[in-house]
Amino acid sequence: MSPSALVRPDLRYMASFVEALREGYQRDSLRPETPEAIAAIAAEPEAFVRQQLNPPTTIVLPDGSLGERVPETHLWRVEGDAFLGSVGVRHRLNAVLEAWGGHIGYAVRPSAQGRGLATGMLAEALGWCRANLPLDRVMLTVNTKNIASTRVIEKNGGVLLDTIPHPWIEGDFGRRYWIDL
Ligand SMILES: CC(C)(COP(=O)(O)OP(=O)(O)OC[C@H]1O[C@@H](n2cnc3c(N)ncnc32)[C@H](O)[C@@H]1OP(=O)(O)O)[C@@H](O)C(=O)NCCC(=O)NCCS
Repeated sequence: MSPSALVRPDLRYMASFVEALREGYQRDSLRPETPEAIAAIAAEPEAFVRQQLNPPTTIVLPDGSLGERVPETHLWRVEGDAFLGSVGVRHRLNAVLEAWGGHIGYAVRPSAQGRGLATGMLAEALGWCRANLPLDRVMLTVNTKNIASTRVIEKNGGVLLDTIPHPWIEGDFGRRYWIDL
């Protein structure tokens, strides 16, 4: 494995990114990828990269309503031209993200899971926040059923704030953590 490095999304990784989607990599754990969405990305990879680099200012929330999308930086973990995983850093919280979502989200493609990548990606993303954002601490949220992500957060210094009913999944619970920068 080459030394860990997060990079900005780029066309050179898009063939592998689409492969990852077909393999089961999900950009959003609350919303499964559809074959139509994957086909649209595969058909216009340049447009997808442009959108990753300049995210829109609105977002369709899990309940279907339209919300404010705060400024966000997408960073990818790659190896050669292979896409392995992604981290999204929200530059600030709003009321929706404070209730659920937090500053940082990440995902690793299924074939690359279990190698410590997410732990390293979050550590690097925290470094990116220190260098680029005027924040003292960042919030992360995780479903209590997601043992792997809970470990990733705790290994990176996460301090539990509280456990709350999951705002988007009835019957589930979530944990909110702070990590000091
Ligand atoms: C959560 C996720 C990012 C973890 O990625 P990963 O690269 O496999 O994580 P790591 O290899 O860094 O492992 C982190 C820890 O989780 C543990 N772990 C990994 N997979 C696990 C599993 N299926 N069950 C229990 N523990 C698991 C590892 O053993 C490790 O803990 P350890 O150091 O105590 O041994 C990945 O499973 C994923 O992309 N899931 C879907 C998206 C998601 O849930 N994102 C987070 C939303 S909060």
